[in-house]
Amino acid sequence: MSTTQQVSSLLGEITPARFMAEYWQKRPLLVRQAIPGFQAPIGPEALAAMAAREDVESRLVSAFDGQWQLQHGPLTSLPARDKREWSMLVQGVNLHDDACDALMRRFNFLPLARLDDLMISFATDGGGVGPHFDSYDVFLLQAHGQRRWRISAQKNLDLIPDLPLKILQHFTPEQEFVLEPGDMLYLPPHYAHDGVALGDCMTYSIGFRAPSFQELGEQFLQFMLDSIDLPGRYADPDLKPVKHVAEISPAMLKQVTREINKMRFTSEDITVFLGQYLTEAKPGVWFDTPQETSAFDAFLARASASGVRLSRKSQMLYTDDTLFINGESYEIPENDSALLQNLANHRRLSAAQVRAAGQDVQEALHSWHDEGWLFCPAGEDDAQP
Ligand code: SIN
Ligand code: CO
Repeated sequence: MSTTQQVSSLLGEITPARFMAEYWQKRPLLVRQAIPGFQAPIGPEALAAMAAREDVESRLVSAFDGQWQLQHGPLTSLPARDKREWSMLVQGVNLHDDACDALMRRFNFLPLARLDDLMISFATDGGGVGPHFDSYDVFLLQAHGQRRWRISAQKNLDLIPDLPLKILQHFTPEQEFVLEPGDMLYLPPHYAHDGVALGDCMTYSIGFRAPSFQELGEQFLQFMLDSIDLPGRYADPDLKPVKHVAEISPAMLKQVTREINKMRFTSEDITVFLGQYLTEAKPGVWFDTPQETSAFDAFLARASASGVRLSRKSQMLYTDDTLFINGESYEIPENDSALLQNLANHRRLSAAQVRAAGQDVQEALHSWHDEGWLFCPAGEDDAQP
């Protein structure tokens, strides 16, 4: 199926261009049968097994006897399946399962720089995380059973204080929908919502991140720490005896201000920072390195026959002249920019593309292979992705 067909089915009768113009970051959209006949690739048992893992981020939320409770994973035991009002939520399922990764990547009319992850929740009857809002855009795809969503454009987003979860103090629902498997609800950021399971239910959330400027500013200053270069030291050979020993003199302030103002942030600094920041693996994500590192010639022989594919955990983005992979930047050799952009966009290179790459790129592929960032798929032909 082509990308256009897949997207138009995901958005019903609405084209991606119309969705972006009328709904994205603006208002909710309910798509009945966004994925007709949707079969959840991960069921409740497989999800519970993931939630028990150390390398997977999970939460258990319950509202037993009207008391909200939150437990962070790994979740080694769960309430009984026939007990009402609990919910298990597993973040980043796309990092661990090919089918979930492929499902998340069907939203490829949106830039990867905004894509966060696929989260899956399982809830028993009455279960949910309460009325709340998120700071991110989210597509809520019903995967199993039914969920009743109530949503509101309310401006009052005050939260109940001193709860382990973010729950709205005043929720005034304006619309209500019951979602069946394959139905999908898009919500823009800060849209109040409450999803309650009607019987056992699974919801897949495809989330899109939007970092706050405060976060970006703090991380940028951290990044710049490594490159600050201010030679010299404060000096005052003309200092005179002072009358007021505790005073910081205007002369001292002036000299320090002049030197501090020499620090400049170039657009290149900001580009490199942003690319590295956006591709950095989240805490707790570990790459599966190959059992043995390979010599360059042996790697090239294999990759030239099989092509290469990015690991599910790898994040790759690019600008005109720089490629970013998993928090590192790589200057793109001019002749290989189409090839590397292809790798970033399609997450694979065919055998023929590997053979056509310049030596610098082949060496980079080799080192990314040894980091576990990409691999040589067994039994791939060299067709264009
Ligand atoms: C859920 O799946 O239970 C919660 C999803 C959300 O409200 O964002
Ligand atoms: Co939410």
